[in-house]
Amino acid sequence: MAAPVLIDTDPGIDDALALLFGWNSPEISVEAITTVAGNVPVEQGTVNVFRLLGLREPSPRPVIGVGAAEPLARALVTAQRYHGEDGLGDLPDWPEAEKPPLEPDAVSVIVDHARRLQRLLTLVAIGPLTNLALTLKADAGAVSLIGRIVAMGGAVDVPGNITPTAEFNMSVDPEAAHRVLAARLPLDLVPLDATRQAVLPRAGLKSAFRRGSGPLGDRIVAFTERGFRLDHAGGAQGLVLHDPLALALAIDPTLAEWEAVRLVIGPEGETLRASGEPNCRIAKGVDTDRFLRLFLERLCPPVPPRPASS
Ligand code: RIB
Ligand code: CA
Repeated sequence: MAAPVLIDTDPGIDDALALLFGWNSPEISVEAITTVAGNVPVEQGTVNVFRLLGLREPSPRPVIGVGAAEPLARALVTAQRYHGEDGLGDLPDWPEAEKPPLEPDAVSVIVDHARRLQRLLTLVAIGPLTNLALTLKADAGAVSLIGRIVAMGGAVDVPGNITPTAEFNMSVDPEAAHRVLAARLPLDLVPLDATRQAVLPRAGLKSAFRRGSGPLGDRIVAFTERGFRLDHAGGAQGLVLHDPLALALAIDPTLAEWEAVRLVIGPEGETLRASGEPNCRIAKGVDTDRFLRLFLERLCPPVPPRPASS
């Protein structure tokens, strides 16, 4: 039976790839998606989820919860310089998507799924941790029932990507990250230490779609172009798959080696090693080849062959 998953996200180019990858992974069932301000304002991130739902039409169709528009205690700083104003590479021609709900109900979606699914549920957080922190405040008992939490974020023994010492998700909402780390949760953190090993060469995407990928593949190539360009400009050998790796590690933890550590959060979202009882595990060595094979196999379902013209 597919393991139920709730994805908390700030789509975002790599978030979008994680969603498409998850929707085509038989080991999991993406039961719910909650949106959070991060890469783009939460309204835009929610529009992007509905754009992707319209593009992919996953089954089951996930419950959608709109989340926090601001970090807990500071102004939102987005990553639109990288992801584009709209968060998905600023393509001019997205098909009209269903209008998203406006009321913020991410916390109730997380509480409902935690209380109903309990240990069966894996929560995958691939944006700032604001929604998870707000849910801890609203109903810590519900959050304590969740079987596993996998969060993309942090830079432990490597430089940051927003400051020399801080990673984006943690830097947007350090207060939320502090509350999550203090809550003694079954937390598996996927920091830049791991995700910088998950680099997709541009040729890799094209080879995956050589079998033909139809409109979905064309759209993926189009919205990832900006990410490839900027990651290359930043010195990477391709597109850094931060969020798809976090989802892959929710599906198969053996894709990485893990270290139990105690982390504390610095004032600007630094993830600092500290002495004392571990409060999370961090992903370290990644089996990059096996991850990329899994990701590319699932990103885009092959286009069914055209029926022979009669
Ligand atoms: O630092 C990478 C993380 O920040 C990813 O989740 C990316 O989507 C951005 O949110
Ligand atoms: Ca993200």
